[in-house]
Amino acid sequence: MNHFGQTARKDLWWVRPLLVFIGLFSFIVYATWAAFQGEHYAVGPYISPFYSPEIFGNSPHSWFGPKPSWWPTVLGFSPALLILWAPGGMRFTCYYYRGAYYKSFWADPPACAVSEPRKTYRGENSLPLILQNAHRYFLYLAILFVIVLFYDAWKALWFTDPTTGQEHFGMGVGTIVLTLNATLLGGYTFGCHSFRHLVGGFKDQLSKSPVQRKVYTCASCLNKRHMNWAWCSLFGVAFADIYVRLCSMGIWTDWRIF
Ligand code: FES
Repeated sequence: MNHFGQTARKDLWWVRPLLVFIGLFSFIVYATWAAFQGEHYAVGPYISPFYSPEIFGNSPHSWFGPKPSWWPTVLGFSPALLILWAPGGMRFTCYYYRGAYYKSFWADPPACAVSEPRKTYRGENSLPLILQNAHRYFLYLAILFVIVLFYDAWKALWFTDPTTGQEHFGMGVGTIVLTLNATLLGGYTFGCHSFRHLVGGFKDQLSKSPVQRKVYTCASCLNKRHMNWAWCSLFGVAFADIYVRLCSMGIWTDWRIF
C-alpha cells in the first residue's frame, strides 16, 4: 500500500500546488478584507468590481440608494457583501479551480501520480462535493456580472467637470484598468466548460446552426487557456479594486489620457 505523498516522480511536483496555495490564499485574504471595508470603493466615474453592481450603497453608482433599513446592524454594512457570493461561487465551483485547490489546499491528491491521504474514492458523487454541480447556475449569474462590468467600463469614459457639473467624454488610466478587468473576466467566463455546454447544442450532439457552431468554437478557443484566464482575471479584479481604492484614498492619482 502506498503511503501518503509517495511517488515515483523525480520533478519538483510540489512547487505548483504551493504556488497555487499562495496565490489563492493571498487573494482570499485581500478580497475578504476589501469586501468588509465598505468605503473607498468608488471615485469619479470608477467603481471597484468587488462592489459592482452596487445594489444599495452611498456612492453615486448605487442602483437603489443607501443601505436598506432591514439590513442587520450586527453585520455592519458593505455593498460588496450583497453580491460577492456570486462570483465567489463561480470561482469556487470552477472545474479548473477545483482541480487546483483540491491539490493545494487539502492535498487530495497532492499532485498527479502522488499518493493520496486515503484509500477510497468517492469522486464528486455525494455530499458535500456533489454541490459543485451548482457551477452552471453560478455561470448564469457570472454572465450578468460581465455585462455589468462592461457597462462600468463604459461609464468610466464619462467624467464630470467639477466647475460646470457637465459630463464629458474622456479616458483615464482607471478607464483602461476597468476595461481590461471586464475583458479578462469575459475571457474567463466565456471559456467556462459549462458555457461551452450551454451554447454547444443538445445532449451528446453539437448544434447544426452556424451561429451556435461559431459561438461554440470561440468558447472552445477560450477554454483551451482557461487556467490562464482564471489567473489573469483573478489578479486583474484584485488590481482594479486596489487601483480604485488607492485613487479614492488620494494615495494614487488617476492620470487622464484625454
Ligand atoms: Fe471554470 Fe466554468 S469551468 S468558470
